[in-house]
Amino acid sequence: TTVEWEAASYDMGGHDTYMHKEIHEQADAVDRVLRGRIDDRFSTVHLGGLNLDAREARRIRRVKILGCGTSYHAGMIGAQMIEELARIPADAEPASEFRYRNAVVDPDTLYIAVSQSGETYDVLAAVQELKRKGARVLGIVNVVGSAIAREADGGIYVHAGPEVCVVSTKCFTNTTVAFALLALHLGRTRDLSVRDGKRIIEGLRKLPAQIAEIMEQEAEIEKLAQQYADARSMLFIGRVRGYPVAREASLKLKEVSYIHAEAYPASELKHGPLALIEPALPTVAIVPDDDLLEKNRAAMEEIKARSGKILAVAHQDQEKADQTIVVPKNEDELDPILMGIPLQLLAYHTALALGRDIDKPRNLAKSVTVE
Ligand code: G6P
Repeated sequence: TTVEWEAASYDMGGHDTYMHKEIHEQADAVDRVLRGRIDDRFSTVHLGGLNLDAREARRIRRVKILGCGTSYHAGMIGAQMIEELARIPADAEPASEFRYRNAVVDPDTLYIAVSQSGETYDVLAAVQELKRKGARVLGIVNVVGSAIAREADGGIYVHAGPEVCVVSTKCFTNTTVAFALLALHLGRTRDLSVRDGKRIIEGLRKLPAQIAEIMEQEAEIEKLAQQYADARSMLFIGRVRGYPVAREASLKLKEVSYIHAEAYPASELKHGPLALIEPALPTVAIVPDDDLLEKNRAAMEEIKARSGKILAVAHQDQEKADQTIVVPKNEDELDPILMGIPLQLLAYHTALALGRDIDKPRNLAKSVTVE
């Protein structure tokens, strides 16, 4: 049976919508997913429910992550973290696609099912099929005791607390943090150095305060949203770590504001989307201060040269952009956790300016428990 959260946690607490409340709960939510799990002695983390011993963890040859919607995007970020920190090839795929393509199920692959509700039918069906074929499946789930949590061999609860708004925000963030914990754990069981383990732990500890810093910019983001609310369409670009962030930000905007939005890898601009660039199509560029900064600046230059408007999300003011939302810098591998958060606020305020039904967008459901 599903464990219910206390009624008190459903209180709106002075917010007008659950989406706004849940965006603002993120610093506390991240604190909860970290709590009790960091092991400073070995520069790693303890994940009590993983059910995967060190020998098994070392035998994993690949990681395949399955989820739908926002959970799929969190899985894309998770796959990159696992590759970077544990050096295990990893990728994410929509659970629905995986189910229908008679995928090769490999005994040396660790499968991870991601779901806020733990009840999404396509994810559950993928898990059941994998288990039937003898695969090991972990769950990264929010709702304790949910169907996917029960069906999985083990996993990580993300402890985001109840998420009521159809559009997922705090659960997305907590899921990316849960993936960072898993990547650190797998990394430290394999070849990640103590020094890198410490570096990631320090980064994780900074997250709640950095999220609080982002929230302080809400008034400015609200002004930006008013400027973009009349756009018919928006383009989101990012490269490597920034790409899943762009995907999720574009999903947030379209779900809640109904503005058409499309995400592209910045490197693919020249293979099509550049044809769309004009003053009426604004671009949101995810520009982390990492090895790819110069490449991202070049992409912004291409857009500027075609009179496109650019809103950058970056770690320092971007002169190529018309406006920049500056987010606090963390460790390179953890930057994707933070970079999408101001864009949740942008989607929220755009939807508010347009008078949308924020907690229950048309045609969408919080969990899709049918095929
Ligand atoms: C629905 C919701 C999305 C959510 C997706 C997966 O489509 O509208 O917000 O991301 O289901 O839900 P889950 O509970 O499995 O994370």
